[in-house]
Amino acid sequence: MRAVRYHDHGGPDVLTTEEIDDPTPDDEEVVVDVHAAGVNPVDTYFRDGGYEPFSLPMVPGTDFAGEVRETGSAVKGFASGDRVYGTGIGREHYGGYAERVAVPSDRLVTLPDSVDTTAAGAAGVAGVTAWRALVDHAALEPGETCLVHGGSGGVGHVAVQLAAAAGARVLTTASPDYHDRLAELGADAVLDYLRDDLADAVQEVASAGPGTDGVDVILDHRLDDYLQFDADVAATGARVVGIGESDPAVGLENDGVARSKDVSYQFMSMFNTPEFRVPLARLAQLMDAGDLTIDIAREYGLDEAGDAQRAVLEESFLGKLVLVPER
Ligand SMILES: NC(=O)c1ccc[n+]([C@@H]2O[C@H](COP(=O)([O-])OP(=O)(O)OC[C@H]3O[C@@H](n4cnc5c(N)ncnc54)[C@H](OP(=O)(O)O)[C@@H]3O)[C@@H](O)[C@H]2O)c1
Repeated sequence: MRAVRYHDHGGPDVLTTEEIDDPTPDDEEVVVDVHAAGVNPVDTYFRDGGYEPFSLPMVPGTDFAGEVRETGSAVKGFASGDRVYGTGIGREHYGGYAERVAVPSDRLVTLPDSVDTTAAGAAGVAGVTAWRALVDHAALEPGETCLVHGGSGGVGHVAVQLAAAAGARVLTTASPDYHDRLAELGADAVLDYLRDDLADAVQEVASAGPGTDGVDVILDHRLDDYLQFDADVAATGARVVGIGESDPAVGLENDGVARSKDVSYQFMSMFNTPEFRVPLARLAQLMDAGDLTIDIAREYGLDEAGDAQRAVLEESFLGKLVLVPER
């Protein structure tokens, strides 16, 4: 089969398309013919060696969707021909940037007929991260106000929809080109993240509802930019979930603001999800019901994996980039 691999850590140029042996399943694995594999920032961190070491060569790709080809002897609940999607590979297991992949059976679920396989292939990291942040960590409730920084991103555009589906009032920030689409996806207010008066604007929208003095739940993917901002716009008892930063030196300039409001900070990694199948199944239900859409900004072939990984870090788009091995 054709697969993208890297034999050394480095830039996007270390990714090469190679002919390698088809995977065979261990007892607990499912082999999937990959139809689509989402391209995520984390794929680049594994490739460049920024995240913990693992054995090389490696096939990148945390996400995947496709059709079951073969199941291991101990696998229950999947049969050849089932449409499936999942996430959580590409680190210690070969990933989804390939024509076929062997996946531990606890990291995939079946797909309802109505759900597009390409969209599902890009749903895993973004969906499970947004779910873990808003549902499991922040326990977002109907009627609360939720701020999603960077709503046009992979995680952001799912988080906007999950917060709306939960009955929250949804504020998000994004570049102006994406404001209309984010309103369609359920955002009640969309603000340009470059506004000089962003904190005031967020406060104004957040405090407009009855009985609220700020934002109850914040999903923050750039903690170095927004950690203090989050405390400043937080309501009393707010929960901030941190998923990323562009500079690891993250700190509060004035922790008294956070203390005075009893703000909780939770940092998370999607890879710590205790049971991937739980959020994956819920996200599939939401996609089936039309309450969650994965916007695909661009598709790439396997030979274009380097371009895709460059673009996911450097270019602006709404939604997800995805590899389609058949292209
Ligand atoms: N901890 C975890 O488990 C976990 C899981 C998934 C992702 N992450 C991390 O979370 C981050 C986002 O991931 P992603 O997949 O959603 O990436 P993505 O699709 O590239 O989205 C990033 C978004 O950030 C926006 N942005 C850029 N500068 C901004 C600013 N100053 N303020 C607000 N938004 C800004 C971008 O908008 P423009 O393009 O318009 O500039 C883009 O929409 C990455 O750092 C990723 O590594 C962590």
